[in-house]
Amino acid sequence: MPSAVADPIRVEAEVLSVRRVGEYFVMAFAAPGIAERVSPGHFVAIAVGGDRSSMLLRRSFSIYRVDPSGSFGGTLEIVVGPKGAGTQWLVSRRPGDMVNLIAPLGRPFSLPVDPVACILVGGGYGAAPMFALAEQLRERGSHVDLVLGAATESRLFGLVEGRRAATTLTTTTEDGSDGVQGRVTDVLPDLIKQHDSQVIYGCGPMGMLQAIAGVASDHGIASQCAVEESMACGVGVCMTCVLPVIGNDGVTRMVRSCTEGPVFFGDQVRWSDVGTVPDDCLGAPTPTVVSAPLQGRGALPDEPAPRGPVSRGGVR
Ligand SMILES: Cc1cc2nc3c(=O)[nH]c(=O)nc-3n(C[C@H](O)[C@H](O)[C@H](O)COP(=O)(O)OP(=O)(O)OC[C@H]3O[C@@H](n4cnc5c(N)ncnc54)[C@H](O)[C@@H]3O)c2cc1C
Ligand code: FES
Repeated sequence: MPSAVADPIRVEAEVLSVRRVGEYFVMAFAAPGIAERVSPGHFVAIAVGGDRSSMLLRRSFSIYRVDPSGSFGGTLEIVVGPKGAGTQWLVSRRPGDMVNLIAPLGRPFSLPVDPVACILVGGGYGAAPMFALAEQLRERGSHVDLVLGAATESRLFGLVEGRRAATTLTTTTEDGSDGVQGRVTDVLPDLIKQHDSQVIYGCGPMGMLQAIAGVASDHGIASQCAVEESMACGVGVCMTCVLPVIGNDGVTRMVRSCTEGPVFFGDQVRWSDVGTVPDDCLGAPTPTVVSAPLQGRGALPDEPAPRGPVSRGGVR
């Protein structure tokens, strides 16, 4: 699994600004003590609805930007695509309002030990963690191709910033309203060939991540994907966010995306089985045999074959 987990803290954070960008809202909070702990790929869990709300569960957001300096003792920004009651409540906050947040949560992206060409892919608001990641990779001498994709132009996020942060920027939209018409995966094979890319980093919808992981595997390179699995507690207690992940020992386990993720190596997630507990997963319910007696191991689900070494794009 990618990088180590950081110590999260909980703060009452003042809303500093709420800015509309296309179909999204960029929200900045005064969050002292958090910025210095954050790496790209971490997320924040925010309580919504106020003290008397029936919305008990926090909502999770990728951390877009942090700034440890300044008069607020550190700031944190997120990009919100309003969806249901929780996110609607959040984006209707005004400067001076307070929200309760916990960050940084989860395991962030791992960086290659030596500079290698990398492709960063952000789908919609999934672009949020990619700018800081691009800057860190370039500071270490890596070539960074950034690909931002969405259904339509108003759902692309951060084009100006992307041009600044990465070596190259490519945009794709499904309706052709900006950049290449199609999906992010349409442009990946050419980019991999052009720059001999060794790692693809992705953040966005599950289908996009599955497709990215597939392209990476087809080209024999590594991928790291920040998944967006539904979460309840956000801190590893409730098991709402589990998905089937193949360990280095070749065994599939149901793994919590809030604590062991949200970033996973793409070739270790069983994308087609997400939302299920596969029969061969460690601890999965054993199928009940009604008429025939159990006969040794033949009655048990097969264990997956041990896997050979895989490329990790220089990440150890
Ligand atoms: C690690 C992570 C990073 C995320 N980053 C962002 C981001 O940067 N920007 C952004 O706009 N959204 C992000 N999301 C999705 C965001 O958390 C959901 O859109 C939000 O929780 C929906 O809450 P709601 O009350 O508006 O919607 P509702 O659909 O009313 O939510 C009902 C319940 O389902 C859960 N839920 C619903 N959809 C999701 C979802 N897609 N992911 C997780 N839980 C969900 C909510 O937590 C809530 O408990 C992220 C989710 C995760 C897990
Ligand atoms: S959301 Fe509760 S364990 Fe992950």
